[in-house]
Amino acid sequence: MPEDLIRNIFQGLSDRDRGVIVKIGLGTRRTCQTLACALDGGEVIRLVIDNDVYNRAGESWWEEDNPLNLLHGSLTPGRFAYFRRVLAEHRGSDYRGLRALDIGSGGGFLAEEFTRIGFGVVGVDPSTVSVDTARRHAAVGDLDIDYRIGVGERLPVSDASFDVAYCCDVLEHVTDLDGVIAETARVLKPGGLYLFDTINRTFVSKLVAIKIMQEWRMTRMFDTPIHDWSMCVRPEELDLVMQRHGLRLGEFVGLGPRSKNPLRLLDLVRAGGGRLNYGELSRRLDFGQIRTTAISYMGYAVKQ
Ligand SMILES: C[S@@+](CC[C@H](N)C(=O)[O-])C[C@H]1O[C@@H](n2cnc3c(N)ncnc32)[C@H](O)[C@@H]1O
Repeated sequence: MPEDLIRNIFQGLSDRDRGVIVKIGLGTRRTCQTLACALDGGEVIRLVIDNDVYNRAGESWWEEDNPLNLLHGSLTPGRFAYFRRVLAEHRGSDYRGLRALDIGSGGGFLAEEFTRIGFGVVGVDPSTVSVDTARRHAAVGDLDIDYRIGVGERLPVSDASFDVAYCCDVLEHVTDLDGVIAETARVLKPGGLYLFDTINRTFVSKLVAIKIMQEWRMTRMFDTPIHDWSMCVRPEELDLVMQRHGLRLGEFVGLGPRSKNPLRLLDLVRAGGGRLNYGELSRRLDFGQIRTTAISYMGYAVKQ
């Protein structure tokens, strides 16, 4: 949001509302982002994370030299293999006629997978560029996916209308975690499945997701903050929010690189220097289910 606009909005608020914004804005970084920004003594505090990267880089999610493609090479197959196991346990193997909601659908990596196995998929994302890319890619593959512009905090779909909702690598980007989970619970049918993955908030996740992937010049993927460690969610925190909204936890499992080859660190440097594309880096790191939840984790819950 342009700073002038933010300043105008702020100036149009009552003193009481301004006080609340500044107070909570200073309290937590997540809240700063909720407000798009906070003003401290009239000065704009910059956004904590740069979600606009999904517009700037969102035209080429499917191209392997785009850092966003790291999510595709092995993360999408790794996450999807786990979700298929959960689906098989809870829904058998015939998904025709079932509806799935992809919250934060990005370029459509997972929406296409769920569509291919028979679900009718609706994808929701605030990035107009990403939604356009996802629509174009689905059309080329002749996949019928209903992509809509929207946010997880206010899903543009009706109550109790989905058998499955999934939200992958998104919870650490949202401005109002409680609102997103409340909305997810609203749109799921009773007995519906919620599938998710997100980055944990541990020392290890700080090293990997913040220091290596984002801050160190040799290895970082973007020169803009795509994650803020304080916005990452611990499993027990997510469980509490889900409980509050009637989503009963099934399990949490670890998600991370399965490759144990130390040379992969050099690959990160190669990718950072443009000598290895992100699709190949992703395949070499071989993301998928692992024992530890210290970096990222995935899991599921059931709507009561
Ligand atoms: C790391 S990408 C993940 C994309 C996709 N889920 C995947 O795993 O391939 C994060 C996505 O979340 C979207 N996003 C950011 N804030 C959001 C919000 N409040 N509600 C829903 N999606 C959001 C971004 O536009 C972006 O497409």
